[in-house]
Amino acid sequence: MAEQLPILEVDNLHTHFFTKSGVVKAVDGVSFSVKPGETLGIVGESGSGKSITAMSVMKLVPSPPGRIVDGDVRFNGDSLLPKTEKEMRKIRGKDISMIFQDPMTSLNPVFSVEKQMLETILTHEDMNKHQARKRAVELLDLVGIPDAKKRLKNYPHEFSGGMRQRVMIAMALACNPKVLIADEPTTALDVTIQAQILALLKRLQKELGMAIIMITHDLGVVAEVCDRVMVMYGGKPVEFASVKELFDGPKHPYTWGLLSSIPQIHNRKERLEAIQGLPPDLRHLPEGCSFAPRCTHVKDSCLHIDPALLEDDTDHFVRCLLYEEEEKVIQP
Ligand SMILES: Nc1ncnc2c1ncn2[C@@H]1O[C@H](COP(=O)(O)OP(=O)(O)O)[C@@H](O)[C@H]1O
Ligand SMILES: [Mg+2]
Repeated sequence: MAEQLPILEVDNLHTHFFTKSGVVKAVDGVSFSVKPGETLGIVGESGSGKSITAMSVMKLVPSPPGRIVDGDVRFNGDSLLPKTEKEMRKIRGKDISMIFQDPMTSLNPVFSVEKQMLETILTHEDMNKHQARKRAVELLDLVGIPDAKKRLKNYPHEFSGGMRQRVMIAMALACNPKVLIADEPTTALDVTIQAQILALLKRLQKELGMAIIMITHDLGVVAEVCDRVMVMYGGKPVEFASVKELFDGPKHPYTWGLLSSIPQIHNRKERLEAIQGLPPDLRHLPEGCSFAPRCTHVKDSCLHIDPALLEDDTDHFVRCLLYEEEEKVIQP
């Protein structure tokens, strides 16, 4: 059987913000691809460039001050960067859809859910109002909102946090997107609802065959739903592997730190061991590895050499001098 081609490819993406106080290198050399039916996780602390990576894919980076300065984004082999805003509007919601981090930024509080859903559906699908309304009810039903027909008339504030997130998912799925980007879709929700929403996304993915990019700061969520995962630090990927590889044999000291801050079910009340120190200032990145100031395994060379992302094992990439030097020792 022929190898399935990726539906979305991001290639050496650089997105910078040109601010009065300097250039913020929010995304600085990110590459990944996803295939239909696959879920890629993007994980990292707040400020590591996850959302701006997603916004770059959608070409929604606020500009000015932001700009994609290098790299490429391809949907189905076709570069999105030369596309006009009008062309992008046809792609957003239809081919690539996004669930935004803050539900209230994508739901308009002054319009009913019906009005907002119908607008999305009518923009992309060849349907009349009656058919679009029927579709909207089906979608609310699909995401598990009881009494969908009646609920359609409600305004966003009339839904609980969990139900509002379901509405967002329904809207994102309205036109059967090939790629769904979910930016921290469960962060604001309590654990029970979080589990329900993740299970829902998994079920919908199976039914609709879409690729999902799951953005989160929570490795527990990654373990739950992803196939592969990219760990980001300071705008760059520092480790990239299958979820199994990453949990069985994490390689980057930053990933070790993230893993030790996953809450265990039985000792949930224990204080989590967070990574010491603060994320880097993206305006003034240190010379050498940007994680070096916080790294428990830092060596002199880390302060001068910015390591490359290298394939250490098959399909397991890591950006760390620990491994570059190991190779040098092994090789004659
Ligand atoms: N409009 C903006 N102007 C300047 N810097 C920005 C802007 N939006 C985001 N950034 C910076 O880009 C970096 C990455 O942000 P983001 O992708 O939102 O991080 P996260 O990983 O938490 O999603 C942060 O340092 C943030 O301050
Ligand atoms: Mg974010």
